[in-house]
Amino acid sequence: MRVLQAADARSPVDAHTGVCDSHGADARSRRGLRVKALILGATGQVGRALYAAAPPGVVVVALDRASLDLADPAAIAAVVGRERPGVCLNAAAYTAVDRAESEPELASRINADGPRALAAACGACGARLVHVSTDFVFDGAAGRPWRETDEPHPLSVYGRTKLDGERAVLDRDRGSSAVVRTAWVHDASGRNFVRTMLGLMRSRPQVRVVADQVGSPTWAPSLAGALWGLAMRPDLHGLFHWTDAGVASWYDFAVAIAEEAFARGLLAAVPEVVPIATEDYPTPARRPAYSVLDVRRTAGRLGMQPHHWRANLRRSLGEMSVA
Ligand SMILES: NC(=O)c1ccc[n+]([C@@H]2O[C@H](COP(=O)([O-])OP(=O)(O)OC[C@H]3O[C@@H](n4cnc5c(N)ncnc54)[C@H](OP(=O)(O)O)[C@@H]3O)[C@@H](O)[C@H]2O)c1
Repeated sequence: MRVLQAADARSPVDAHTGVCDSHGADARSRRGLRVKALILGATGQVGRALYAAAPPGVVVVALDRASLDLADPAAIAAVVGRERPGVCLNAAAYTAVDRAESEPELASRINADGPRALAAACGACGARLVHVSTDFVFDGAAGRPWRETDEPHPLSVYGRTKLDGERAVLDRDRGSSAVVRTAWVHDASGRNFVRTMLGLMRSRPQVRVVADQVGSPTWAPSLAGALWGLAMRPDLHGLFHWTDAGVASWYDFAVAIAEEAFARGLLAAVPEVVPIATEDYPTPARRPAYSVLDVRRTAGRLGMQPHHWRANLRRSLGEMSVA
């Protein structure tokens, strides 16, 4: 099995970290014991950010798909049972939103059955589970940011399977699981809107971008901070929302990418960005028109305020400038 493990002071695993107990990650770290954390989806945007942001005193075992396939419930039980973590952070998912429309069974195995098996395995060894979900559980018909208490109504196979996964985790919750919905995630190296736009903007004088879908772009490292915050707070469980602050349409986001990238020398010229309607850019999966999440409850519980998405976009482009 391929296991990536932190090569610094967080490893090697000591005897205490291999023992799951009912006191939770935070209690153990306060007692000066190391906490063992499994990260699933370690090759993805959020998984990489989680790995990079692991707090002191945490031994990280980062699992890629080859190490643990979420579509394989028996493997989930075996790996979690063997590793016996104090906390498990699940950033693995079937994230191909449009392809999911033609692969609903596979999307459901990974996004719903996998988290169900993971919740059961974590429950069996007393591990805390922090599971990542999405704004696409909503239909976009709200006139205000979506709260954790709002009724979900997904428009796509991806959204439906992610909602099933949330429910599977929360159904097994005995006060030790946190499900965190987020939105419009980007980082400096993943498959995401920022890098797609930069590629298009380098090769075309004009790009056409949907202007009637609104959300909150979210930098993976800032999400990782909130996820670790929740991971280390066993007193917090249930459903949480977390994104960067502020709202934007995809068009607004593209304009900001063009301006900020040009300012950093990542683009030779600022291209023309043309706003278009969703109906002018048909996709297999329907997406919510308005998917801004209300993060006030999570921010209050964690004592953390999200940064504005544009400030985090600058940070992300700054990482590309020096890469
Ligand atoms: N990206 C967004 O805009 C966005 C928005 C809202 C919520 N989210 C949620 O945030 C979480 C992380 O997303 P992300 O942006 O980091 O996605 P990502 O970059 O596509 O990463 C997904 C990760 O899941 C892994 N994975 C896929 N199928 C798997 C399987 N069967 N078994 C094990 N691992 C598997 C991938 O491995 P490979 O590298 O091998 O494919 C990859 O490491 C997901 O729960 C997603 O639903 C994302």
